[in-house]
Amino acid sequence: MDRIRIEGGRPLTGTIRVAGAKNAALPLMAASLLTDEILALTNVPEAADIATMARLLDELGVEIDGEAGADGTPPCGPLRLSAGALTATTAPYDLVRKMRASVLVLGPLLARHGHARVSLPGGCAIGTRPVDLHLKALAQLGAEIELDEGYIEARAPKGLIGAHVVFPVTTVGGTENLLMAAVLAKGETVLANAAREPEVSDLANCLCAMGAHIEGIGTDTLRIQGADRLHGARHAVIADRIETASYAVAAAITGGELAIEGVALDHLDAVADVLAAAGVSLEARNGAIAVARGDKRLRGVDVMTEPFPGFPTDMQAQIMALLALADGASMITETIFENRFMHVPELNRMGANINVHGASAIVRGVPRLSGAQVMATDLRASFSLVLAGLAAEGETVVNRVYHLDRGYERLEEKLTGCGAVIERIRD
Ligand code: EPZ
Repeated sequence: MDRIRIEGGRPLTGTIRVAGAKNAALPLMAASLLTDEILALTNVPEAADIATMARLLDELGVEIDGEAGADGTPPCGPLRLSAGALTATTAPYDLVRKMRASVLVLGPLLARHGHARVSLPGGCAIGTRPVDLHLKALAQLGAEIELDEGYIEARAPKGLIGAHVVFPVTTVGGTENLLMAAVLAKGETVLANAAREPEVSDLANCLCAMGAHIEGIGTDTLRIQGADRLHGARHAVIADRIETASYAVAAAITGGELAIEGVALDHLDAVADVLAAAGVSLEARNGAIAVARGDKRLRGVDVMTEPFPGFPTDMQAQIMALLALADGASMITETIFENRFMHVPELNRMGANINVHGASAIVRGVPRLSGAQVMATDLRASFSLVLAGLAAEGETVVNRVYHLDRGYERLEEKLTGCGAVIERIRD
């Protein structure tokens, strides 16, 4: 298993270009199942999860053209997906276990093919993460759903029928699955308390380019008029707001100055507010953002994760690494996932002073962190350990780097280009 070795203590300076958003690209790829024409996606990140989704679609019979991914994995980069004739409607355990977002094929398979068999995802490192809300909402659209030997068996032999769905909890994947189901259902579907994440809107915009009728994009009420069929389209995946914010924290935690290019600024308000309160300046400059802390000390800030437009859970671990080095105390409350503090003991091994009480972590700022061997547990937790390593005195080795590879494109290259001393140790 690869490891990443970092020599900390170097301020990052320079320019970083962010990739397309992994969490937008994954549902967009699944949307290719909705048409027999070509869906061409650009700005797709080179991330392992993209390769996993490509492998799953390939198993279903989708033809995929794109540049070869790293290590001979299925294609990444610009993708042309063609779901002319499917050969299967089953998402097997091995792929769903590897990547929960595999469950996003459920809605489109059911809508266009009347059948889907998708392995039930188990729990994962950040929480139990059930898919009950996806299933209840699909049942409201007339799907017959059974659980059979660890699989979701969903049928709609006569097609889906529009319905009024109210999500009791905001769910990003649930909203995406239902959007993809509703665009081919008969009549009108209303999705209330829908997730407003930019990745959901990106999917909705692409579906409209494919001929779907969706109103209320970007709001919590999506109104969909079902179409008989969708056609092909070209679509550029939005910039990755989480990658952007992660590098903004890298500039801040090292006391450096970065220009981050290719970003969507209006997706970053909540993170920008927290960074500003902590003493980090973030300015729009020529379509990029300039992030700097300079020599000023960081200040503690209270942070609560919330659905968009609130502070994203996917930035909770990274902001915690930053606040571990701030003056004063911060309280970080995680409201989305029940077990997303696995990075805390690892940060504490590097000298941080963090205590978890239920859904909140009290972070008492320390003057410095020191390098250590640490273990990554999930994608964002891994990045927080990289951040701590960049700021720490001495050497940090982050183990289980495959988590990082799932969602951060060419991480070492991007950081090395800005003056970080970071290398991958291949075992
Ligand atoms: C998406 O996961 C993202 N993944 C996650 O990114 C992100 O953390 C999360 O949204 C929240 O923003 C992708 O987009 C591929 P949810 P998703 O359904 O869709 C509960 C990363 O690091 N819930 O919005 O799975 C659930 O347990 C990842 O890139 C149910 O109870 O998240 C959670 O507590 C990790 N039943 C809450 O809702 C359901 O049927 C929100 O989950 C569905 C969800």
